[in-house]
Amino acid sequence: MSILITNIGELTTNVPAGEDRLGTRHDAAVLIEDGRIAWAGASEEAEGVSSRFARSTTEEVDVVDAGGGAVIPGFVDSHSHLVFGGDRAAEFEARMAGQKYAAGGIRSTVAATRAATDDELRERLRGFVHEMRAQGTTTVEIKSGYGLDVATEERLVRLASEVTPEVTFLGAHVVPAEYAERADEYVDLVVGEMLDACAPHARWIDVFCETGAFTVAQSRRVLEAGIARGLRPRVHASQLGPGEGVRMAVELGAASVDHGTYLTDADVAALAASDTVLTLLPGVEFSTRQPYPDARRLIDAGVTVAIACDTNPGSSFTSSMPFCIAVAVRDMRMTVAEAVWAATAGGAAALQRDDIGAIAPGMRADLVLLDSPTRVHLAYRPGVPLVKQVWKDGAATL
Ligand code: NIG
Ligand code: FE
Repeated sequence: MSILITNIGELTTNVPAGEDRLGTRHDAAVLIEDGRIAWAGASEEAEGVSSRFARSTTEEVDVVDAGGGAVIPGFVDSHSHLVFGGDRAAEFEARMAGQKYAAGGIRSTVAATRAATDDELRERLRGFVHEMRAQGTTTVEIKSGYGLDVATEERLVRLASEVTPEVTFLGAHVVPAEYAERADEYVDLVVGEMLDACAPHARWIDVFCETGAFTVAQSRRVLEAGIARGLRPRVHASQLGPGEGVRMAVELGAASVDHGTYLTDADVAALAASDTVLTLLPGVEFSTRQPYPDARRLIDAGVTVAIACDTNPGSSFTSSMPFCIAVAVRDMRMTVAEAVWAATAGGAAALQRDDIGAIAPGMRADLVLLDSPTRVHLAYRPGVPLVKQVWKDGAATL
C-alpha cells in the first residue's frame, strides 16, 4: 500500500537542516509505503521517486493532493489521564470564581472511577482517543491513578493498554482516603500487590512527588520498585511548589519530569546535563490559573522540552495539542517552531521513542495535514479546527 502526498506547501520533517531544527521544506511531497515513511523531498522529484517504488512493489500509488497545506508529524501527547469516571466541572467553576487548585480533588474522581464499570470507562476512553486523533494526536501516553486500589488500578492500566502501548502505572497519584495518615502503608501496597497486578500491562512507572501527594523518599521507593520490575520511570514534580523531585528523577534516569513550574537553578542545571525531558503542560496553568513555568529559561539552558495536554478532569480537561501549542507560544513565550517541535519530536523524546516524531525514511507514517499554509496557524488561529487529515501508521483516520 503506497500513498504519495503531493503539493505540500510547508513540510515540517523534524530532521535538522542547518539552523532549522524542524527541517522545513516548501513545495514538498511525502511517500508512504506499508505504514512507514519511504521518502520525503521536493514535489518535483515525487513522480520519479514514486514510480520507482511502484515498479518495485507492482502497486498502484494513491495520490493525495495537499492543496498547498502544511504537513507536520503527528502530535505525540506524552502525558494524559484518560481513564476515569465523572467530571469536576463544579470544581473548575469554583476555581474560576477564586478557589485555589490542590492535589486533593483527585480523590473525588477516584470515587467516581471505582464506581464505573469497565464498559463505561472503555467507552469514555475511546471517545477521548478519538477526540485527540481528530486534533492531530497520533500517539498518546495514558496513566492510571484514579483507582488507588489493586483491583481498580489493574482495570485502568488494562483498559489503557487496549488503546496505546504507552501505558503508565500511577498508583502513587495521591494517598486514598482510606489510607489517610498511613501514607507509608499505602506505598507498601503500591510497590507490592498493586505493582504485581499492574506491571504486566504497563511500560512506565510514575509518581506525583509533591506536597499533598508523595514525599521524595516515598517517590523514590515507588520508582525503584517499578524499575526493578522492568518499568521505566517518569515523574510529576514541582507543579505546586519547589522540591527535590526533579533531581531525584534525573538521578534515576527518568525519561521525563512533568510540570516543572517551580524549578531551582540546580534543577535546571541537572536537567540540562541529563537525557531527562521536561514536559510542559500549558493546559494545567491555563485551567488552574497558576503561574506558567519559565519555558525560555529551560530552553536557553539547553533542556529538552516537550509539550503535552495532561488531559484529566481536575487540572486540565483539554485534549487539544493545537490549543496547548497556542498557549505555550502566547503565555510561555516559546517560539512557534519550538512549540511545534516540543509537541512532536519532544513528545517522542519524552517517551523514548525513535520511530515517531519526525517525517524521515523508516519512521512510522504518522502525519497531520493542516488546513493552513503553515504550522504557524496552530498558534495564530487558536481554537480553530485546522486538522484536515491524519495518517496513523499510513492509514488515513479522518
Ligand atoms: O497532572 N498532578 C497530578 N495529576 C494531575 C491532576 C489530576 C487531578 O487533579 O485530578 C495533573 O495535573
Ligand atoms: Fe498529570
